[in-house]
Amino acid sequence: MARDLTQLEILNELEPVAEQNLNRHLSIAKEWHPHDYVPWDAGRNFAAMGGFDWDPEQSRLGEVAKAAMITNLLTEDNLPSYHREIAENFSMDGAWGTWVGRWTAEENRHGIVIRDYLVVTRAVDPVALERDRMVHMTNGAQSPDDWGGFLQNVAYVTFQELATRVSHRNTGRACDEPIADRMLQRIATDENLHMIFYRNLCAAGLDLVPDQQIEAITRIVTNFVMPGYGMPNFRRNGVLMAKHGIYDLRQHLEEVVRPVLKIWNVFGRDDFGPRGERARDELAEFLEKLDRDATKFEEQRDRLLAREAARANREKAATA
Ligand SMILES: [Fe+2]
Ligand SMILES: [Fe+2]
Repeated sequence: MARDLTQLEILNELEPVAEQNLNRHLSIAKEWHPHDYVPWDAGRNFAAMGGFDWDPEQSRLGEVAKAAMITNLLTEDNLPSYHREIAENFSMDGAWGTWVGRWTAEENRHGIVIRDYLVVTRAVDPVALERDRMVHMTNGAQSPDDWGGFLQNVAYVTFQELATRVSHRNTGRACDEPIADRMLQRIATDENLHMIFYRNLCAAGLDLVPDQQIEAITRIVTNFVMPGYGMPNFRRNGVLMAKHGIYDLRQHLEEVVRPVLKIWNVFGRDDFGPRGERARDELAEFLEKLDRDATKFEEQRDRLLAREAARANREKAATA
C-alpha cells in the first residue's frame, strides 16, 4: 500500500493548482471600497468630542439583526488568528504565500466596513462592541479539536467561507435596511470567491490523496463549529440567529455541507481505499443524523414561534 504523503509533499504537488486558482481569483475579484458602503451623513460625534454617547434608542436595527451583525463582525475581527492558522498550514511560499496575503487583505475589508457602518449609524453599543472585540481577539480563534494540517484546514475554510456567506446574506435581509443589505451582499460576494478557491484546492486534494483528504473532510464536517466559536455571547447569539433563520442547522446542511460535497462528488467517487470508504460511510451517517437534528430543531422552532405569536396577539388584544 502506498504511504501517506506528507504535508510538504502535498503542498508542493498542489502548488500549480494554487497558482491557477490564485490567478483565476485575481482576474474575477473586483476592487471595492469600504467607504462607499457607509452612510457617513448619518454620523455624529460622541460625548468625548462634544456630542452624545450611544443610547439604545438610537439603533434602527432589531434584536436579531444586532446579534447577527455583532457575531459577524467579531468573527471578521479575529482575522489575525485565522491568518496565523492559514499561514502555518498553507505555507508562505510561492503561490501559497501570495494567496494567504491577498486573502488576508480582502478579509480585513469586511471588519472595516461593518464596524464603520455600525458605529456611524449607531446600530449597536460601540463600547460593548470594543470590549467584546478585545476579549475575542485576546483569546484568539478557538477550535474545539485539533484541526491542524493543510488537508483539514482547507476543508474547514471551504465550509466556513460558505457558512459566512450565508450568514452575511441573511443578516443583510434581517436588517431590513437597504444600505446594510447592500454592504453585506458585497461581503458575501467576497466570501463566495474565497470559498471557490478553497473548494477547488480541496477537490485537488481529493484527487491527489483521496483517502487522506476524505478523512480530513469527515473530521471537519462531523466536528464543525462556526468560526466565531468562543466569542462573548456566542451561544446566545447563535441560538437567536438559528431561531430567526440567519444560520440554522437546515441551512448548514442544505446550503453549505451538501452542495460542497456534491461538487467534490464525494458519494460518487470510486478512488477511495478501505480507509477512505470508512471515512465516507461515517460522513454519510453523520449527514443523516444532521438531517434528523435539523428536522427536530425546525419543529421545536415552529412551536416556539407559534407560542410567541399567540402571546403577542393576546397582549395586543388586552391593550386594545
Ligand atoms: Fe470575511
Ligand atoms: Fe472570506
